[in-house]
Amino acid sequence: MFAIDFGARSIKVAKVHRTNDGYELGNYGITLSPEGAIANGEILNPIVVADALIALLKDSGIRDRKAIIAITGQKVIVREIVFPLMEDKELMAGVIWEAPKYVPYDLDESIIDAEKVEEFVEKDGNKMMKVLLVAAPKTTIQPYMEVLKKARTIPKIVDVVSSANIRAFKNNLSDKKEEEKESVIIDIILSIGASNTILTLVGKNNLKFTRDILIGGNDITKAIVKSFNISFDEAEKLKRETKIVVDPEKEEEKKNESEKIIVKILNQITKEVRKSLSYYKTQSQKVKYNKMILSGGCANIINIKDFLSEQFEIPVIIGNPFEELKIDERVFDIKRMNKLKDTLATVIGLAMRER
Ligand SMILES: Nc1ncnc2c1ncn2[C@@H]1O[C@H](COP(=O)(O)OP(=O)(O)OP(=O)(O)O)[C@@H](O)[C@H]1O
Ligand SMILES: [Mg+2]
Repeated sequence: MFAIDFGARSIKVAKVHRTNDGYELGNYGITLSPEGAIANGEILNPIVVADALIALLKDSGIRDRKAIIAITGQKVIVREIVFPLMEDKELMAGVIWEAPKYVPYDLDESIIDAEKVEEFVEKDGNKMMKVLLVAAPKTTIQPYMEVLKKARTIPKIVDVVSSANIRAFKNNLSDKKEEEKESVIIDIILSIGASNTILTLVGKNNLKFTRDILIGGNDITKAIVKSFNISFDEAEKLKRETKIVVDPEKEEEKKNESEKIIVKILNQITKEVRKSLSYYKTQSQKVKYNKMILSGGCANIINIKDFLSEQFEIPVIIGNPFEELKIDERVFDIKRMNKLKDTLATVIGLAMRER
């Protein structure tokens, strides 16, 4: 099996092998997405995406036919729900019964999946379990299936991007030793891509909450295009050269125009993130946000780490998906891979699904 991550900016593929003590990279590849073909987690033009995927598989030497893919977007529902402990075979029936509470569209028109993540015992002795419910409308999944079919690949696993990110950053997450008596330690994974930002809250290695915010690096580039009246590619270049300075003393006028634009869009993202963080805090008690793990291509914006650390008043680290992954330096250009690590994180985490 191999993994595919369809993004608005690029399509990534990866294959990893399980070894005795972790994983080893088998192959990987990345190509720019056809313009306007993928946005906000939706494949808008399956035909051109399939052509790009076919070429990418050929170039990266991946000959497997069985694929692991991930979906995301505002229509994808991911919720942790609590049930009395039951057998796996009863679980689906229970989930279908409960699903209408969480899924705002017709169940007949959607796909639903559920997985037990944790068992626990309540104070009164009742055995309970936490279950991760995933639901998506068929209309979201269908274009993905069209792409895979045209590229002669078979979807074996459909995962969600937030779960793939948790797997990719397993070694960056707070371990259980850091657990405090009085509070529940939550790590924040923030993946800022081209068309969306995926916020994932993780506690004890489990997904607690996720939300898709439809703002990303493309919005910065587009705003620069408009303001400077330059091409998209020129604006991308300017964005990558711009340093955002985290200095409250620096007066607004002294900031150059591209810096102002980046900060403005980032502020839109952090505003939404903050809303979700306080929402989650009111939902569950004694939450302590421990640190933020930053990823996605926009993690490369110069100084973004310090910017976010100051905004959220917690440590921010750049997630490293290669920590548990052996990479043969005779085969792969490590320097190039390290530059791409933020963009590749999701597809690496996805490929780690293979057992
Ligand atoms: N060095 C850099 N400096 C600033 N921004 C960068 C840099 N490198 C990449 N980016 C931005 O990161 C974004 C691409 O990130 P990523 O590959 O995670 O997105 P994607 O998966 O294609 O999109 P999405 O997940 O939103 O559909 C683009 O907006 C790109 O301009
Ligand atoms: Mg992405």
